Amino acid sequence: MEYILIIGANGKTGRIISKVLNNASGYKPYAMIREEKQKSYFENQGIETRIGDLEDNFSKAFENIDKVIFAAGSGGQTGDDKTTAIDQDGAIKAIVIAENHSLQKFVILSSMGTDKPEQVKGLEHYLKAKKTADDFLRASNIPFTIIQPGALTDEDGREKVEIAKHLNKPGKISREDVAQALVYALELDIIKNRSFEMISGEDDLKSAMESYS
Ligand SMILES: NC(=O)c1ccc[n+]([C@@H]2O[C@H](COP(=O)([O-])OP(=O)(O)OC[C@H]3O[C@@H](n4cnc5c(N)ncnc54)[C@H](OP(=O)(O)O)[C@@H]3O)[C@@H](O)[C@H]2O)c1
Repeated sequence: MEYILIIGANGKTGRIISKVLNNASGYKPYAMIREEKQKSYFENQGIETRIGDLEDNFSKAFENIDKVIFAAGSGGQTGDDKTTAIDQDGAIKAIVIAENHSLQKFVILSSMGTDKPEQVKGLEHYLKAKKTADDFLRASNIPFTIIQPGALTDEDGREKVEIAKHLNKPGKISREDVAQALVYALELDIIKNRSFEMISGEDDLKSAMESYS
């Protein structure tokens, strides 16, 4: 059994990741949440929680953890300062703690466009923050996968995607498919130490990830 810490577990994608992992064999999810009042949502499903705030010291949440899925983000309602604090510095802190704990894999939910932040008007700061975190992970000594999806939707998952290092076109993908991809990426050899962009398409999700690996 592998113990997986989900950072950002109470988010729209994080809740789906928690559910997918809880139903998958071989994994035990630990939902990292910020507030006690968020516990019941997870405990009602039999999912254990760990309290941790990315702007604070959250290393205790990593006790006995094997791998991490990082799906936190400051969201669109806050300013650039929070984007830096959560999407960039929060992710970097988590990578350092994961390294200190010699974790087996760090899977991060990034965003399409991070490779050329200056080309996406209005999102430059956000994409630069994500890129800084992605680059920090690439330079770390922990095995990783970086998933860079297009715009997230709340549609049902189809597990049909298009993936590439650079897709060179915009697109959307459901949070359900992204959650499933993050869970597949926990396997050590799937897309080890690489990043890829992903939108909804016609290729089977798991096969596409395996052939990209
Ligand atoms: N929206 C898009 O189209 C899009 C596209 C590509 C990539 N992404 C990325 O995908 C990720 C997930 O998106 P989403 O829409 O599922 O996000 P979301 O619903 O906004 O969830 C974000 C999660 O991060 C948590 N968080 C924020 N600040 C935190 C802190 N200081 N400490 C610990 N946790 C903290 C939130 O906690 P609370 O629940 O306590 O608030 C929430 O659970 C984000 O990183 C986003 O940038 C989004």
